[in-house]
Amino acid sequence: MTSTIDRSADQALKARHRAVWALGDYPAVAMDVIPELGPELVAASRVHAGDRVLDVAAGTGNAAVPAALTGATVIASDLTPELFVAGREFAQQHGVQVQWEEGDAEALPYDDGGFDVVLSCVGVMFAPHHQQAADELVRVCRPGGTIGLLSWTPEGFVGQLFKTMKPYAPPPPPGAQPPPLWGDEGHVRELLGDRVTEVAARRQTLTTDFFQTPDAWLAYWKTVYGPTIAVYRGIADDPERVAALDADLVALAARFDRGGDSLVMDWEYLIFTARKQG
Ligand SMILES: C[S@@+](CC[C@H](N)C(=O)[O-])C[C@H]1O[C@@H](n2cnc3c(N)ncnc32)[C@H](O)[C@@H]1O
Repeated sequence: MTSTIDRSADQALKARHRAVWALGDYPAVAMDVIPELGPELVAASRVHAGDRVLDVAAGTGNAAVPAALTGATVIASDLTPELFVAGREFAQQHGVQVQWEEGDAEALPYDDGGFDVVLSCVGVMFAPHHQQAADELVRVCRPGGTIGLLSWTPEGFVGQLFKTMKPYAPPPPPGAQPPPLWGDEGHVRELLGDRVTEVAARRQTLTTDFFQTPDAWLAYWKTVYGPTIAVYRGIADDPERVAALDADLVALAARFDRGGDSLVMDWEYLIFTARKQG
C-alpha cells in the first residue's frame, strides 16, 4: 500500500518534472525540430474519424492535433499545463477541437477502457516509473483498442544526449528509470506483456537540418529544452563543468552529423503499436 510519505515524495518529484518541462521554450522544439513525429504516430496507430483518442504527455499536441484532424475526439493530457497555451494556439491554427487536461501518466484521471486509441509521442517515456505508466496506458485503452508509442532510442541522438548529460546531473531518485529505455522494443514488450497482441515495432529516424553547426544546435538547445536547461542550472556555479558539458554536447552533435556544408543529423526513434487483448 502506498504510504503518505511515498505519495508526497512522488508529488514533489512530479512537481519538479513539471517545472523542468515548463522551462525554456518546449513549444519551439515541437514546432521547429520534431513536428513530423506526431503525424507519423497518428498514421502508424491508424487513428480515424470517430475514435476516442487519449494523447498521454501530449505537450503542445504534436500528436493530439493531427489525431483531431482525422475527425477523432481527442483529449491531450500532460503533467505540464503551461504547455497548453501553445497547444491551444496550435489546435486553433488547424481549426480543430482538442480537450486539454492536466494529468500524470502514472495515475491517469480516466476510467478503465475509455479510449479507442492511446498515444504517446516522446512523452510517456519521461514518466519515471515505467511499469506504472505502462499499466495506465493499458488500463485506459478499451479491449481491442490501440496503443501507439513513439520513443527516442537509447542509441539514437536523444538517447545519447541524456547519457552525455547524466554525469553532470544529480542522481535520479530511487526507482526512476531512464527515459530512452522506452525506445528498446524488448523493454516495451515486457512492460505491456501479454495484455497486448499484434505488436508492430520499427526503428526510424527523424532528419533535422534546422541547425547550421553543432555550436548553433547547442546554443538553441540550452535555451529551449527544459531537461538540458535544468542540468546547466545545476552546475552553473562551476564554470569548468559548464565548459566540459558544452564540449561534450558539441562533440555529440558533431558525431551525429552526416557531414556536409551544414549540420544534418538523424535522430533515431522506435515506433511501437499494439492492440489491447479483447
Ligand atoms: C518531449 S515532451 C513531448 C511532448 C509532445 N508529446 C510532443 O511530441 O512534442 C515530453 C512531455 O512529457 C510530459 N511529461 C513528463 N513527465 C510526465 C508525466 N509523469 N505525466 C505526464 N506527462 C509527463 C512533459 O510535460 C512534456 O510535455
